[in-house]
Amino acid sequence: MSNHSEHPWWRGASFYQIYPRSFADSNADGIGDLQGVISNLPYLEQLGIDALWLSPFYPSPWLDGGYDVADPRAIDPRLGTLDDFRELVRHANARDIKIVVDVVPNHVSREHIWFKQALASKPNSAERNRFHFRDGLGIAGELPPNNWISVFGGSAWTRITEPDGNPGQWYLHLFDVSQPDLNWTNPEILADSIETLKFWLDLGVSGFRVDVAIGMAKDMTYADSPDPQGLVDAIRLDLFDPADPESSIERRKLMIGSPIFDRDEVHEYFAEWRKVLDSYSGDRFAVAEAWAYPTERAMRYAVDLGQVFNFDFLIVPFIAESIVATIDRIIEDAATVQAPPTWVLSNHDTARVVSRLGDKTTSLHQARALAVLAHSLPGGVYIYQGEELGLSDADISDDKRQDPIWERSGHTDKGRDGGRVPLPWDSTLPNYGFGESSPEQLWLPQPMEWKVDGVSQQLNDPASTLNLYRRLLKLRHTHPAWKNPDARITTEVVLDSTGASTGIIRLIRADLVVVLVNTSDADVTVDVGDFAQILCASLHPNPKCQDGYITVPSNCAVILGK
Ligand code: BGC
Repeated sequence: MSNHSEHPWWRGASFYQIYPRSFADSNADGIGDLQGVISNLPYLEQLGIDALWLSPFYPSPWLDGGYDVADPRAIDPRLGTLDDFRELVRHANARDIKIVVDVVPNHVSREHIWFKQALASKPNSAERNRFHFRDGLGIAGELPPNNWISVFGGSAWTRITEPDGNPGQWYLHLFDVSQPDLNWTNPEILADSIETLKFWLDLGVSGFRVDVAIGMAKDMTYADSPDPQGLVDAIRLDLFDPADPESSIERRKLMIGSPIFDRDEVHEYFAEWRKVLDSYSGDRFAVAEAWAYPTERAMRYAVDLGQVFNFDFLIVPFIAESIVATIDRIIEDAATVQAPPTWVLSNHDTARVVSRLGDKTTSLHQARALAVLAHSLPGGVYIYQGEELGLSDADISDDKRQDPIWERSGHTDKGRDGGRVPLPWDSTLPNYGFGESSPEQLWLPQPMEWKVDGVSQQLNDPASTLNLYRRLLKLRHTHPAWKNPDARITTEVVLDSTGASTGIIRLIRADLVVVLVNTSDADVTVDVGDFAQILCASLHPNPKCQDGYITVPSNCAVILGK
């Protein structure tokens, strides 16, 4: 009998991304932990999400926020124990919340036992062959083996000191110097990754988020790249220029035939992963972090694993025509492989959506309108912790920055810390209720004069962003329009009587609800016919329908039913 249902749960699920160190601190050490997640499961259940995606909680020196994994089959003791993890899965599942964990196949931490063994071994040894070790160029090997560049800045190669004390070979790291890339042509790497998948699947996880899924295969001739900087910039979400999204998409063209990204061999590895996922019951799946060009190539990852992130929605400017074109393109692309589209407004690598939109007074309104839209679209939706509170990026003083991008860019790029600060649970408590450590102990400081409402305040405020998200997630679970995750939708920009754009996006879902989003600076009145019942609005109080018409305020979105 097949292990798969016709309608796997993840096709239309809402996922909540937890960045564990910043979620909730249960033991007053200034660092969020697994018990902090467990104690807030009631909050997550009330919010109405279907699954949690936990960013890495594995032992790590935290030189890249835990994406530098020293042991992929263990828990960092500062975050908890395996028993805590079992408890988390049990308690979450009891509340009908599934657990998805991050898996980082492209690289490990230099603290991983394998890398320590490699450093202690000889060139060409089995230990070195788990990584990409090469002799340098130049008279005495003093130059890097080629021109590849790290995504975080500088050469992608670092020279080691051999056990005899002499300068020696170079190793490849597409990210931080502390994150050596694995050599996936070595079958041991695939075998070990499968062991990791099974380890977490056996503990009850429902799926994986696959970090840098495009990266595992490299050109083993190590030929120079024609445009090494352009290539790595193509995957930097934080470099996307909202005013010029097409240029980001254009940059991705460099990936075609690239020596480091989106090579065909990665799909052979994922085919083996697929077999593992399929050998478990319960529709286990994975979502790939993968940019590729053209989009058909990105969709191959969804074919392999289930889902792929469609990041174009995350960078789209707040302009009706751009939004509609992006939505249509994402839905079309996903449909070509019968994959569900995915909608993401922010994650731990990007500016928070409010800040991306410009930190203007209207940005929060626009972000809320986009949330209404994202939840109305077919497929899966991902919410990054704090997005449901309408948080914007925090200012971090330079001496407190943690992201390796800050150092590696020579202090020109502030990096991603602004969206990673510990969450505000209750604005009246020390550390905004994140935990009971001294403020100095927080792993990343909260802003001194943080003018935010915490969870407790927002729960009691019908106008809060939190209550908007709760209403949206409730609709997803209860309204017939969301019964079919693959529901047909139509989108258009509403034109006025002269044929000019009104700035209103109209979306119809399953012929059961109409969603209107006003991206213009003015209020706009729209004919809604029978759809006169307001199911949800992004601004409070709800606008009213009268005689088949509704006036939608600027930067507001409404969902209407019959
Ligand atoms: C993760 C980043 C991380 C990088 C290297 C990314 O895709 O989301 O946070 O820095 O992979 O592991």
